[in-house]
Amino acid sequence: MIKSTPFSISPNPANLYLTPSLKSTIFKIRYTIEQRRGLACLLGDVGMGKSSVLRLIHSEYTDSESFSSSMIQTPNFTSEFGLLKGICADLGLPPRNSLYNQEKELREFLFKQFESDKNTIVFIDESQRLSDKMLELVRTMLNLETNTTKLIQIILCGQLELQERLTGKKNKAIRSRVFMAPMLDGLTLAETKAMIEFRCEREGLVSPVPNDLYQPIYDLGRGIPREILKICDIAYALMLEYEESTFNLELIETAGKQIL
Ligand SMILES: Nc1ncnc2c1ncn2[C@@H]1O[C@H](COP(=O)(O)OP(=O)(O)OP(=O)(O)O)[C@@H](O)[C@H]1O
Ligand SMILES: [Mg+2]
Repeated sequence: MIKSTPFSISPNPANLYLTPSLKSTIFKIRYTIEQRRGLACLLGDVGMGKSSVLRLIHSEYTDSESFSSSMIQTPNFTSEFGLLKGICADLGLPPRNSLYNQEKELREFLFKQFESDKNTIVFIDESQRLSDKMLELVRTMLNLETNTTKLIQIILCGQLELQERLTGKKNKAIRSRVFMAPMLDGLTLAETKAMIEFRCEREGLVSPVPNDLYQPIYDLGRGIPREILKICDIAYALMLEYEESTFNLELIETAGKQIL
């Protein structure tokens, strides 16, 4: 049996190496939630770590009595009513027979939460998939507020297409509601090395990458965490297959050719 390896590409938040830029992004989202600023967007290109960050933040609030939350991982609902029912179900609310009644159910819940000093958060991953009507629903949910504060905090997480959608004319109204929209950047060379070492440490291993070979891994992966991890994972498999104890340039180049 091959032992578990350090380079999994599933979005397990425990695998995240927190770069200064990630820490800053996480802080901004926590601020939006805890200061009840309503809406934040977490943006980034494919494979940058958005879902992992969203899960990390979500997990911080799930155990707290002071927060109720809904996590929509893939919003593949056929209508905005479906999305609202999904959110309400996560919050423990019953389904209602119309959008109007479902909104009423949510509104009553949010006011009760507020009276008992509780905050409510909705996380939506893959938000680039939300239809314009669904974005409009998000906007209406943000209208639920008292004179002084927002009753619901919404975190939309999505690829760059979400940014294009939000800057388009059609979605002007929701765009102006966005409090912050941090963008996840690619890793630097030093961060790539630190991330690989961090991943190995978690498995109780020393990094198999010789010091001079982080550069080609970084170049082939273009600083994108998922691409870097895929290269490392393939090179790791080849290393085990050839019974080597560290990576060499040939293994990395062979691995680089196998990713698309
Ligand atoms: N800073 C990091 N440290 C360690 N691993 C990371 C880091 N950033 C991303 N990863 C890893 O990269 C992989 C891809 O991350 P994730 O699935 O969160 O990306 P994503 O931005 O949601 O991608 P997509 O746009 O395709 O949904 C995951 O295995 C994740 O653990
Ligand atoms: Mg994702």
